[in-house]
Parts: sequence; structure tokens; C-alpha cells
Amino acid sequence: MSTIRVAVDGPSGAGKSTLARAAAAALGFLYVDTGAIYRTVGLFIRDRGVDLGEEAAVGAALPSLRVELRYDEAGRQRMFLNGRDVSGEIRLPEISRYASAVSALPVVRAYLMETQRELARKNSVVMDGRDIGTVVLPDAEVKVFLTASAAVRAERRCRELAERGTPQPFDEVLRDIEDRDFRDTHREAAPLRRAEDAALLDTSALDFRQSLEALLGIIRERTGL
Ligand code: DC
Repeated sequence: MSTIRVAVDGPSGAGKSTLARAAAAALGFLYVDTGAIYRTVGLFIRDRGVDLGEEAAVGAALPSLRVELRYDEAGRQRMFLNGRDVSGEIRLPEISRYASAVSALPVVRAYLMETQRELARKNSVVMDGRDIGTVVLPDAEVKVFLTASAAVRAERRCRELAERGTPQPFDEVLRDIEDRDFRDTHREAAPLRRAEDAALLDTSALDFRQSLEALLGIIRERTGL
């Protein structure tokens, strides 16, 4: 039986991962957070001390990188870097910046493409990222572009960081989000943009339940599930 692929793209902090995970659980699909994969590569490059301006050096380091996705009993995705669980570390703001920088490099994007496609060949997936509907899975049965205003996203990120015990001032978080939005939408390699056939879901004024219902509504409407 062929798999069903749900591509969820959008800027950081729009609620993609929480919503995509919940939608995957409701449908019995595998949830794939591709941002976590880029974050793991960012951490690897930081640890190696590779100069991000040297794309060839980054490319040369990639064969020593082993990224694995594993799922815990609760169905949460855990990231392993060369056998080490880095799921917590990759969420640090410093690693967000590394992730954004490595994700702009075509050598990194090409390297990770097959890993992502393979997951969607073997499983029905809800996959979230920036270029899933446009580049990774252009034939996805369902494409959703999930967004929210920068201020709402910064508020949500602040809450998340505080809960993790690494609080950051709102202004810094907002600036970080705006900088990353700019880099993610203006880079040459697979910039963040809404696929023409993606449904737009703006969660600025919606709470979690409303957002999830809207997302599941789009998926059901497009797949008949
Ligand atoms: O969703 P996130 O904040 O965890 O993503 C981390 C970085 O990786 C972000 O700067 C955008 C980038 N990314 C990407 O370029 N393509 C993806 N499919 C997923 C994330």
C-alpha cells in the first residue's frame, strides 16, 4: 500500500512541531521533525570547529556524521549524533543559529535529502520543515503552510525556553526569530516559501486545540481519511 505524505512547512515558532506531532499521533502516522536533523548537523559542525564559511570543509566533514532518528515509548522523536542522544542540546539558541547557517549550504541539503525521502517511502508521515512541500516531497498528498505573526512566535518560544530552564529576554528572542526568518526566506538553497498547492494555516489567533482541528481538517479534506 502506498504511503500518505503530509508536508508541513513554515517559519520557526509557528507551532509546526507540536501540531505536526499531534496530528501524526491522531492519524497513526510517523512524525518527522526535519529541523531537528538540521540542528543535529549544526551541533556536529560546531563541535568539530569547522568554519561555516568553508562549504567544502563542511562537505568534507559530513561522512563522519551519523544522524539517527529514534522514537521513545511516547512516540517522541529523539536525535542521535554518532550514537549520542543530543535531543536536548540541539534546542539551545546557539545551535539554532548553527542550524540556520548549515541549512543554507547546498552540500548539507543534498546530503540530507535522501534520509528524509527514505522515511516517507517507508512510512505514512507528517513531516515538518521549510522545504518539504516544495523540494523534499513535491508530490505530497497534503501540503500545509503553517504560520503565525513574529511577535506571537517569539512569545511562544520564550515560554518554551523558560520551561526548559534556559529563559531568554523577549526582545532577543524576537530579534533571533526575525533574523532567522530573513535568512530562511532569502537563502538561495531551498528558501522557505509556500508551495502553490499548500493550504495556508495562520495560528496567530488560534489556541492549540483549534490549530490541531484546523490542521486535521485540511488533512482529512485532502485525503478523504
Ligand atoms: O524548525 P527548526 O527551528 O528546528 O529548524 C532549525 C533550522 O533548520 C532553521 O533555521 C531552518 C532549518 N531548516 C531547513 O532549512 N529546512 C528544513 N526542512 C528544516 C529546518
